[in-house]
This record gives sequence, C-alpha cells and structure tokens, in this order.
Amino acid sequence: MSAPSTPHINPQGAPIAETILLPGDPLRAKFIADTFLEDAVQFNSVRNMLGYTGTYQGRELSVMGTGMGIPSIALYSWELIHVFGCTRLVRIGSCGGLTADLALNDLVLAQAASTDSNYLAQFDLPGTWAPTGSFRLLNHVHRAAEDRGIPVHAGNVVSSDTFYHAQDDTTERWARMGVFAVEMETAGLYANAAAAGVEALAMFTVSDNLVTHEKMTPEQRQTGFGQMIELAATVTEL
Ligand code: HPA
Repeated sequence: MSAPSTPHINPQGAPIAETILLPGDPLRAKFIADTFLEDAVQFNSVRNMLGYTGTYQGRELSVMGTGMGIPSIALYSWELIHVFGCTRLVRIGSCGGLTADLALNDLVLAQAASTDSNYLAQFDLPGTWAPTGSFRLLNHVHRAAEDRGIPVHAGNVVSSDTFYHAQDDTTERWARMGVFAVEMETAGLYANAAAAGVEALAMFTVSDNLVTHEKMTPEQRQTGFGQMIELAATVTEL
C-alpha cells in the first residue's frame, strides 16, 4: 500500500502524531520543531506549509502551519483529521484584543468562536451552531496556565474573514456581545473537529489591542509565543 497523501500534505511515509500544534505561519512550525521537539522529522513541504513530527518530553507531537483564514485552516485540518488520523488539534496563534483589559502578551483560550464566515452553512443545521472548543483540552491548558501564574482569559472570540473591515464599528459590535478577541481561523477548526468527533482548542497571545491601540514589538511576540507553545504541548499529557 502506498503511503497516504493529499493534495496539500505529502509525508512520503513520515509519521504524523495524533496530537498536532497548528501555528498559522509555517516558519513558526519550523521554529517550534527546532526549539521544542526532539528527533523532529519533516513530514510536509507542499506549498511550503512546513510540518514536523518529533517528541516532546518523550511523547509524540507534530506541528504544522495552517496559513491564514478559515479556508486555509479548514482544508489542512480536514486532511489531518480524515486522512492522517489527528485527534487533538491545537491552534496556536495571535489575536487582537477587543476589550481594554486584555494586555499585550496575555493568553487567550477560545472557549467558543463566533464568526462572520459562511463556512458553517455547509453543515446545514436548523439554526445557528456555536463553534466550541474541547472542554477537556481547555480545562487542562487553563489549569496549566494558572499553575504557572500566567494570566489567562477564556471566552468567546470572533473568527473574521476580514482583517481590514469596510465598516468602522465591526469589532465594536462583536465586543458589545461579550466577544473579547478577534482572529481568523478558529470557527473553521472547531467546526471540522466537531463534525469529525475529535478534540480541538485554539489559544492565542494578544499581539495588539484594538481599543487601546497597543501593539507588540517583535521581541515581545517571541517571548509570549514560547510560553504558549509550552502550555499547548501540555495536552500531550492527556
Ligand atoms: N484581526 C484579525 N486577526 C488578528 C488580529 C486582528 O486585529 N490581530 C491578531 N490577529
């Protein structure tokens, strides 16, 4: 039997772990493999969407880029789940804060992901479905953050198809419904995971705040990111 491959992932027989970390940027995936994984092997280079498998504290862990936006994370996560058997998918990214109390570098866990995307329409439900993260993963990471004294917020984020909005009050209107951060992928990931009966969680560091207009420096981005990777990797303990 030939080794499984898809239009976007061609491991040529290299393993992919059941637990996978999913940064948006493929170079982040390479950085994570180089810095945090032992014995990492590269399993994907199609379209430069780099993916690696290695071990983290003795447990198998993969990491792969997803690109930006719901269409991109949706196709990669679909293939990872349905063709390569991933059962725990953890997005690690950045988000914009929609309330003033979200400080730069704070950690956000997406309990739920509202969206302006039409991706959910394909599931043809008789109402409005709520994309929700795995409580087991969320609870585990939340506890790990608290144990380490890392400020953490969990709640409803919005996965938006637009980074630049035509209307000035777009994010403000979400904030009025208690949505406290914006990013561009999670609702698609949560929908695919739910439809397949697997676990997913998305976590972010706050890279900018749309209310206070603060922005991270490149150095700040790096520190916050390292801390988040270590927290995300704790799901391998489950
Ligand atoms: N919008 C969407 N995604 C983001 C943002 C933003 O302002 N900041 C970080 N990721």
